[in-house]
Amino acid sequence: MSDETPRIRRVAGSLVEVSPLRAALYELALVGDQKMLGEVIRQRGDLATLQVYEETTGLCVGEPVEVMGATLTAQLGPGLLGSVLDGIGRPLERVAEATGDFIAPGARADTLAADARWHFTATRSAGERVSGGDVLGTIEERPGMLHRVLVPPLVSGLLATLTSGEFTVTDPIGALADGTPLFLSHRWPVRTARPVLERLGSSRPFVTGQRVFDLFFPVAEGGNAIVPGGFGTGKTIIEQSLAKFAEADIVVYVGCGERGNEMTDVLTEFPALVDPRTGRPVMDRAVLIVNTSNMPVAAREASIYLGITVAEYFRDQGNRVALMIDSTSRWAEALREMAARLQEMPGEEGYPTYLANRLGQFFERSGRSKLLGSPAREGAVTIIGAISPPGGDFSEPVTQAALRVAGAMWALDAQLAHQRHYPAVDWETSFSLYAEQVAPWFTEHGGACWTALRQELMALLQKERELRDIASLVGPDALEDHDHLVIEAAAIVREVVLRQNAYHPHDAISSPQKTHALAAAALELLHKGEAQLSAGSPFSSIDLVPARRALMAMRDGETP
Ligand SMILES: Nc1ncnc2c1ncn2[C@@H]1O[C@H](COP(=O)(O)OP(=O)(O)OP(=O)(O)O)[C@@H](O)[C@H]1O
Ligand SMILES: [Mg+2]
Repeated sequence: MSDETPRIRRVAGSLVEVSPLRAALYELALVGDQKMLGEVIRQRGDLATLQVYEETTGLCVGEPVEVMGATLTAQLGPGLLGSVLDGIGRPLERVAEATGDFIAPGARADTLAADARWHFTATRSAGERVSGGDVLGTIEERPGMLHRVLVPPLVSGLLATLTSGEFTVTDPIGALADGTPLFLSHRWPVRTARPVLERLGSSRPFVTGQRVFDLFFPVAEGGNAIVPGGFGTGKTIIEQSLAKFAEADIVVYVGCGERGNEMTDVLTEFPALVDPRTGRPVMDRAVLIVNTSNMPVAAREASIYLGITVAEYFRDQGNRVALMIDSTSRWAEALREMAARLQEMPGEEGYPTYLANRLGQFFERSGRSKLLGSPAREGAVTIIGAISPPGGDFSEPVTQAALRVAGAMWALDAQLAHQRHYPAVDWETSFSLYAEQVAPWFTEHGGACWTALRQELMALLQKERELRDIASLVGPDALEDHDHLVIEAAAIVREVVLRQNAYHPHDAISSPQKTHALAAAALELLHKGEAQLSAGSPFSSIDLVPARRALMAMRDGETP
């Protein structure tokens, strides 16, 4: 045994100090006799600090460490759809098969099943020049789901061979003239954004099917939104409703460090979900990445990077991908825990000073882009990140850091949730920077005067708030007839337009047309009332009940 073998000198939670070891930042290593996977996160002289992705109990000082010469990568290829992975890409099912319900230390399982055979149809031929992002051919991964096999981003050359046929992900399907083999899958380092040809602006919305978002606080395709909300305000229901109903070709859902039983819910509910548009299981177009709070923090920290890398991979095939994160706060807490163990100078509330920076870099990976390679195609990754501020206090560092990079904020309000007004979106503090750019699309696909409708409804709610404040100060007698009408009409807007029951058979999803129709009808009700008042009728003579009933029937009825 040579003195030069890197050995564990100290274990602190999921962190270990190893010397003598000189490695690259984020380089992977096999830690200890059980060869647990870890990654180098700090280098000081020949002392390296590693974060271990597994439970480190039992790891002892003196055990050897072996660096692997590569950073954490995602294995990308056919078989991803429908899979359930942990934060470092191990499929839960196959790990459990190999080691039982409790994952054994050092358990290794490739993301993609090595024995699955796929029928590959080549669309390029030997003799052609290919480069990163070129589509080599296709696989029908699931019924109706075409998986495009790509030349890895940084690879290029003359195609020497390429064959159609049945392959596993480890069988070469061809090779370049320089001998580089080509496979159905390739690996990509999760902390590096996959390159694109050009970033594009977006005039297309990420259509959520939720009225309060599409009408009031829309997100552009390739944009991002944060959903901060206190305990039980409906964050998870929103993320899941979008996973089911939003217009996306592919959904990547990262359950990051929420309570174990909540993840169990996700694992049992997701496979049962049916895509209303195709009638097929949602899992046919989804990848789940789950980390519960009892899994090691390092894996939790890594899981959002795995999620975005998988999302980018499907984007690169030309898809519109939605990445859901529930919740970003648990990721930030993992970052905080590791920073504390590294004894770094803490910033606000113990979070590292680079929290905002990391969060910004992560959200930067959303976007709509012109993609590398031929045929020419575009794709998008939209990120929807839930945030769980302790005590529902939005002034805390994670919400504040996310606010700086978010294009939209759907702020959830505990009081609305308490009144069972769901989605409990506070229309006063929420915002969207995309409203103007997606308005033409909504006008074309939802209905005329989309922006005017939005503005008038928001003004109505604003006015209602002012009037209620006045009424609570000086009593309702101070209000005039028009004020009473505004209050009534606003109540109807909240009830019929903004509320949406995630479990309703007909209203869980609202098309842009339906959203427009309901909003326009609610506003018409106000205008009719105003006309009656101008004609001299007192407010007491105006009966809004039948109109309100009609609107509710319209909301809950079977509409296209
Ligand atoms: N759109 C909705 N329609 C109907 N019910 C809803 C809706 N949104 C939330 N709820 C109700 O609120 C409950 C709590 O929602 P949810 O679990 O999504 O909250 P959360 O913010 O994720 O909570 P936590 O902070 O514990 O993660 C749900 O179980 C459901 O009963
Ligand atoms: Mg939740």
